[in-house]
Formats: sequence, C-alpha cells, structure tokens
Amino acid sequence: MHADIYEIVHRRRDVRAEFTGAPIPGDVLRRILAAAHAAPSVGLSQPWDFVLVADPAVRRAFHEHVQHERDVFAGTLSGTRAERFARVKIDGVLESSLSIVVTYDPERGGPAVLGRHAIADAGLYSVCLAIQNLWLAATAEDLGLGWVSFYREPFVRRLLGIPEGIRPVAWLCLGPVTHLETAPDLERHGWRTRRPLDAAIHHDRW
Ligand SMILES: Cc1cc2nc3c(=O)[nH]c(=O)nc-3n(C[C@H](O)[C@H](O)[C@H](O)COP(=O)(O)O)c2cc1C
Repeated sequence: MHADIYEIVHRRRDVRAEFTGAPIPGDVLRRILAAAHAAPSVGLSQPWDFVLVADPAVRRAFHEHVQHERDVFAGTLSGTRAERFARVKIDGVLESSLSIVVTYDPERGGPAVLGRHAIADAGLYSVCLAIQNLWLAATAEDLGLGWVSFYREPFVRRLLGIPEGIRPVAWLCLGPVTHLETAPDLERHGWRTRRPLDAAIHHDRW
C-alpha cells in the first residue's frame, strides 16, 4: 500500500495471460473503485460509471463477441503481421475474476460543463483518467488489469442495458495474477517496441 508512485507506474502492465481467477476481497475492490472515482474531471462532471460484471454467462457472451472482432482485425493482416498477431492473446475476460465496464455520460454535469465548451473530448479524457487511477490502484494492490477494446459499442450497450447516449469506454478485466511481466506483451511478441522518451519530447515547437 505504500509503494512509491514511480515504482507502481513502471510496474503496471496490461494483463491477459497471468490471471489466476481467485476472488478479489471486497475492501480491495472498494479501494480501487474509490481511487478511480477520485480522478480529476472537466468541470467536476465525474462523467464515469462502473458496471461490475461477475456473471459468467454475460462474460462468455462478451468473450464470443471479442473473438469475432479479433477475427475481423486478423482479416486485415497478412504475412509476418498476421503470424505475429496469431500468437498475441488479446483478452483475459474468462480467466480474470471480475470485469469492470467504465462508461461515459456526456450529459453529466450539463448543460454548461465548465471547461468543455471548446473541447468536447474533455469529458472522455476525464473517464480515461479514472481508468488510469483504477489501473494504478489495482497495481498497488498487486492485482492485474487488462483493457479490452475489441468490441462494438452497440453490442456492449445491449449486453449490459446501458442507456442510449452513454458510451462504454473500456471493458476492464481485473483480478489476482501469478506475476506481472516486466515488458509489454506486444513487445515480447515482436509486434511493436516502445518509443524512447527523448523521441517524444519537443522544445518550444512541435
Ligand atoms: C485504450 C486502450 C485499449 C487497449 N485495448 C487492448 C485490447 O483490446 N487488447 C489487448 O490485449 N490490449 C489492449 N490494450 C493494452 C495495450 O496493448 C498495452 O497497454 C500496450 O501494449 C502497452 O503495454 P503495457 O500496458 O503492459 O505497458 C489497450 C490499451 C489501451 C490504453
């Protein structure tokens, strides 16, 4: 619980293959959700909600949809890219302990959301900050988390009864893990390497 923030930031991984399926203690889950809910948000709109999906039947239905979307993406690849992607596991929906779907309500805090009049996406940014808080808190609790985005929003909206106008932003898989890898899966599978920090820093102009 007192691990250094930098240590947690660099230890965090996107997890798919290392879930044990063991239960998450209630107090731990509550702390993680409280960390997400403490995120900054444009105009203090707090436009997020968290749908906790424990039902195995619902998770199986989502997993089938993800497998279909995986095939759709695989169909756009050829040669080495196709071979590499075939080895990459893209989700741990069935193996993880709990799914958390994080949603965005653009109407929350409206009609005049302070700070969003010029940049509509600021609401969505706020939701992503809640997700990152959740991810780091999970890491601090020695849990793994994986973000799954191989889905179509209308499917998830129908599956979970999410009202029209509210966007599912992330399907997160959470739970105890055997270990966290030291390098991203995509790097380990030769899909892509990380960019050096200095390549991302600009001075005075782009
Ligand atoms: C918005 C977003 C969507 C992602 N969607 C997926 C996904 O559908 N499947 C997957 O395996 N990983 C997904 N990831 C995880 C990334 O592949 C991962 O963060 C990246 O490769 C870096 O690895 P690391 O998180 O372990 O540092 C997603 C990450 C983000 C931020």
